[in-house]
Amino acid sequence: MVTERELAPAGLDVTVPNVARMYDYYLGGKDNFEADRVAAHKVLELVPGLRRSAVENRKFLRRVVRFLASEAGVTQFLDIGVGLPTQGAVHEVARQVNPRARVAYVDVDPVVVAHGRALLAVADLSVMVQADVRQPAALLSSPEIRAHLDFTRPIAIGLFAILHFVSDADDPAGIVACLRDAVVPGSYLAISHVGTEFFPDKQAMARAAAVYEQANERVTPRSRDQILGFFGGFELVPPGLVPKHQWRPDVGEAAAGTPNIQWGGVGRRL
Ligand SMILES: C[S@@+](CC[C@H](N)C(=O)[O-])C[C@H]1O[C@@H](n2cnc3c(N)ncnc32)[C@H](O)[C@@H]1O
Repeated sequence: MVTERELAPAGLDVTVPNVARMYDYYLGGKDNFEADRVAAHKVLELVPGLRRSAVENRKFLRRVVRFLASEAGVTQFLDIGVGLPTQGAVHEVARQVNPRARVAYVDVDPVVVAHGRALLAVADLSVMVQADVRQPAALLSSPEIRAHLDFTRPIAIGLFAILHFVSDADDPAGIVACLRDAVVPGSYLAISHVGTEFFPDKQAMARAAAVYEQANERVTPRSRDQILGFFGGFELVPPGLVPKHQWRPDVGEAAAGTPNIQWGGVGRRL
């Protein structure tokens, strides 16, 4: 029998759990390998609501993009840490409102970038760029991004479920400030981020984080106050930084008791 390892693209180490593929597995996707699934199951045992929380994160992203494209009138999007393709990508949602919406997708992971180039970079209105958010100046000077987005006009920056993969040593506040300073007033910043407040059992949180020690990226849950700090220079759009399923829920959503481990919010650049 051919093993997954033999089927994996050359140069890809499928023995190391990968955060993009673990997330794909939480969402019920097929772009993952044995090591990703084993690690994901260890986390799911400690955080049983994680699967639902991941699904809610995609719903949050879709509501945010719909709000930005319609009510806020944003026509350009910079989605950093896009993840493996799944339903309801930013360009799909934005173009339901504005068929000319332009999207630059970014990810550090070469597999995500390869998938994205095949599926997301469509019809000249989207590009997929490999870059590391921990080097924001280099990311922002990418010729592909510069050619695709007009930085003299508002841009919505999406940091959905990525900043908790940036350790304190890599200065996430400095990274967000660098991104903020690159965009004009009237631009937007959207963040979803794992919050410490959602883990009454701190030992379980630490053990789940320890699983990520073996993965390609570590995870750093942060407090609501720390995440609020990332919105410096932005005015939070109502309802502010909230459990993400409570951010402008569609009718019938945001039921009490929805499993959730992330804060979510959107800010307008002052
Ligand atoms: C949990 S997935 C989130 C996907 C999508 N944004 C969402 O919310 O559904 C995190 C993504 O961030 C990417 N990522 C992690 N660290 C990164 C970094 N330093 N620079 C760019 N992308 C990164 C991972 O490769 C992965 O695709």
